[in-house]
Amino acid sequence: MPDTHFAYGPLRATATAPGLEALADPKRSFIIADERTIGFLPDAFSACPRAIVPRGEAAKNLAALELLYEAFLKEGLGRDGSVVALGGGSVSDLAGFAASTWMRGVDFGFVPTTLLAMVDAAQGGKNGLDFGGRKNLIGCFNKPRFVLVDTACLAALPPYDLACGMAEALKHGIIEGEEHFSLIERGVLGGLPLGSDSLAAIVKASIGFKGRIVAEDPYEQGPRMLLNLGHSIGHGVEVISGLAHGAAVAVGLIAAFGLVSRRARSGGDSAAGTSIERTAERVRAVLKALSLPLTLEDARLTASAATSPAAFREAVIEAMTADKKRRGADMLFALPRGIGNVTIEPVGLEELAGYVREAP
Ligand SMILES: NC(=O)c1ccc[n+]([C@@H]2O[C@H](COP(=O)([O-])OP(=O)(O)OC[C@H]3O[C@@H](n4cnc5c(N)ncnc54)[C@H](O)[C@@H]3O)[C@@H](O)[C@H]2O)c1
Repeated sequence: MPDTHFAYGPLRATATAPGLEALADPKRSFIIADERTIGFLPDAFSACPRAIVPRGEAAKNLAALELLYEAFLKEGLGRDGSVVALGGGSVSDLAGFAASTWMRGVDFGFVPTTLLAMVDAAQGGKNGLDFGGRKNLIGCFNKPRFVLVDTACLAALPPYDLACGMAEALKHGIIEGEEHFSLIERGVLGGLPLGSDSLAAIVKASIGFKGRIVAEDPYEQGPRMLLNLGHSIGHGVEVISGLAHGAAVAVGLIAAFGLVSRRARSGGDSAAGTSIERTAERVRAVLKALSLPLTLEDARLTASAATSPAAFREAVIEAMTADKKRRGADMLFALPRGIGNVTIEPVGLEELAGYVREAP
């Protein structure tokens, strides 16, 4: 894993990331950001060549990648150069892929500016683009040389985006166990203030947890698959509803608990069903306090294009079945049975589709 550096300072809406000069040489850096996150660039880097990519998911496509390659060519970015990406997960996913493929790979580092990117997207070495209407179909595993986490950037992040990041942090807590989960539960239900020690503790717990899983399984052949919790249904929801990634993950998390409790009950184990539903209730309470969508129907209602409930679910099923986690007629699914008790198992696509049609 790359070294993650922390730079906690007073909350600021612009130029921040103290300590970047110690990690990247302003004379050799090429900056990638979007028009909002370029404001975080420290003054020492203001003369660096730069490329501004579209904001949000619109950055993760071949057209934006081509613009980056053209800018690299124009500015003469060579093997001795270094790409520094400032932004959320969309910027780091694209920039990491561009740097990994330019001249067969140049050095790169991330300054994540959203909570989601701090705890998840900038951590773990997955870079990539969307293609053909599907999430992250093109990509590579390649670790940034550094990640500089400065929670001061979060001052200007809209509460909804902060909530989206917290959904990914909560996913880490569900997988790791009670201590990690209850750190987030207490923080969110207690009205976590920005810039607080508890927020910093949540960020550090998440980064530490993801780092340990990725170190154990860098190429997602084993335990790293647990990090897909909430993402199988979540990615389908994200693609069809246009919801932000973390909001779609919130829907996917609750749906995953629903699937597991349905399986337990249909297998005659009502005690397990009840226990899973109790855990799901704790997760739902946290996501609700964050004002995130909780159900497929919530997702449909927030989608920009009006679709009937049935058509929405069929579209989600179709998007899900094109997911990378598919294995023939099954999908490798992260099944949450409790806090600290998530397993990876194949689930039949028919069963999954049936559940998505009936889920709330
Ligand atoms: N590579 C991975 O392992 C991984 C993991 C999780 C998610 N992701 C990807 O991350 C992407 C989502 O990233 P994201 O949620 O970080 O958001 P984002 O990069 O899509 O940015 C969302 C918006 O927030 C703005 N923004 C960024 N920082 C800001 C700040 N500090 N203050 C105010 N506005 C700010 C941006 O300009 C943009 O408009 C998805 O494409 C998802 O697939 C990747």
